[in-house]
Amino acid sequence: MSVAVKFSIPYGKQTISQDDIDAVTEVMSAPLLTTGPKAKSFEEAVASYCGAKYCVAVSNGTAALHLASLALLKKDDLVLTTPNSFLATSNAILYVGAKPIFVDIMREGNIDLDLCEKELQKNPKIKAIYAVSFSGKMVNQEKLKALKEKYGVIILEDNAHAIGATKDGVKAGSCKNSDCSIFSFHPVKNMTTGEGGAITTNSKELYEKLLMLRNHGMVKTADMAPWEYEMRALGFNYRITDFQCAFGISQLQKIDGFLEKRRAIAKRYHDSFENTSIKPLYDFDEGSAYHLFVVRVPYHDKRELYEKLIAKGVGVQLHYIPINKQPYYKELGYGDEYTPVMDKYYEEALSLPIYPLLSVGEQEYVIMCLKDML
Ligand SMILES: Cc1ncc(COP(=O)(O)O)c(C=O)c1O
Repeated sequence: MSVAVKFSIPYGKQTISQDDIDAVTEVMSAPLLTTGPKAKSFEEAVASYCGAKYCVAVSNGTAALHLASLALLKKDDLVLTTPNSFLATSNAILYVGAKPIFVDIMREGNIDLDLCEKELQKNPKIKAIYAVSFSGKMVNQEKLKALKEKYGVIILEDNAHAIGATKDGVKAGSCKNSDCSIFSFHPVKNMTTGEGGAITTNSKELYEKLLMLRNHGMVKTADMAPWEYEMRALGFNYRITDFQCAFGISQLQKIDGFLEKRRAIAKRYHDSFENTSIKPLYDFDEGSAYHLFVVRVPYHDKRELYEKLIAKGVGVQLHYIPINKQPYYKELGYGDEYTPVMDKYYEEALSLPIYPLLSVGEQEYVIMCLKDML
C-alpha cells in the first residue's frame, strides 16, 4: 500500500518578506497606480544593477521579447535561436513575422555559438541571434562579441533566468556584447514583481522606440499642446504598474542575497552527486544565477522516475521540451532540424528544486530520494 505524501517541495518558489508587502501597500494609497514614480525608479535601479544605460520595464518577459523584436526585426528576417527555452523566446520572433532558425545546443544547455557561426557563413542574410542564458548561465561573451563584430548580427540576450549572473567579466543585462537583454519577473524567477519584465540596452534610439511601443506607439513632445499626442507606430499596452515596480525595487535590493543562497544550494547538489551517476548539467559555476539546477539522470524510464519523485513530494520539472518539436512549430515546417545534443539532453534532463527558501533538510530529502531511485 502506498503512503500519501502530505508535503511537496516545488522546483521553484518566490521569496517574499514583510518589506516587499510594505512597499506594495504604500503604493496602493499613492496618487498614481501605474507608470508613476516607482516605475521610473525601478527602471533606474535595474539599469544600474546591470550596468546598462537604459531600462524599460514592462508587463511580463514575453512582452519584453515582443517589444524588442518589434524594434529590432522586420518581416521575414532570419533569426538563429535555441530549441532549449520557454516558448516565448522564439514565439516573439514569429509575432513580428520573422523566421526562427533552431540551432543545436552545447552540453551545458546553451545555444552552440560555433554552429551559429557556421549558419552565418552559409547564409549572410541572417539578421539576428536570440541567445538564452539557460538556467542562469550566460553564453560565451567573447564568442558573442566576435560574432557581432565579424557578421554585424543583431544580438538579443534572453536573460529571463539570469538576473545577477556574470560571465567572462560581463554582467547579465549590461548588453556589453549585445543590442539588448530581456528579463522576466514571473514568481518562479530569481526575483519577482508578480508578473513583469524588462528590457535593458545601451542604445538611446532603441530605448526611445521601446518606450513608444510599450504605450500604443504614442509620442508626446514639449512643443505639443498639453492634450496632444501622436501615434507613430502600432504599439501595445505593455505598461507595468507602480505597485509591481515598488515590489521589484524591494526584491532587487535583496537579489545578491537570493543568488548567494541559490549558489550554496547548487554547490551542495554538486558535492552530494560527486562519484554518482547523477550528473549536474555543468561544473559548479560561481557566475551562474542558478535559476534552475538541471541534472542528467541515467534512468531507463524518465516518466517513471518523474512520477515516483512527484509521489514522494519532490517537485522535479523538465526544462525544456525542444520548441521546434511543438505541434504548432511542426505545422510551420520545423521539427526535423539536426539537433542531436538537444535530443539527448531532452532524454536525460531533470530540474531539481532550487530557491532561496529551500532548507538544508528539504534539499537532503531531495538528494536522498533521487539517490535511492538511481
Ligand atoms: C527563457 C525565458 N524567456 C522568456 C520567458 C517569458 O517570461 P514571462 O513568463 O514573464 O512572460 C520565460 C518565462 O518562463 C523564460 O523562461
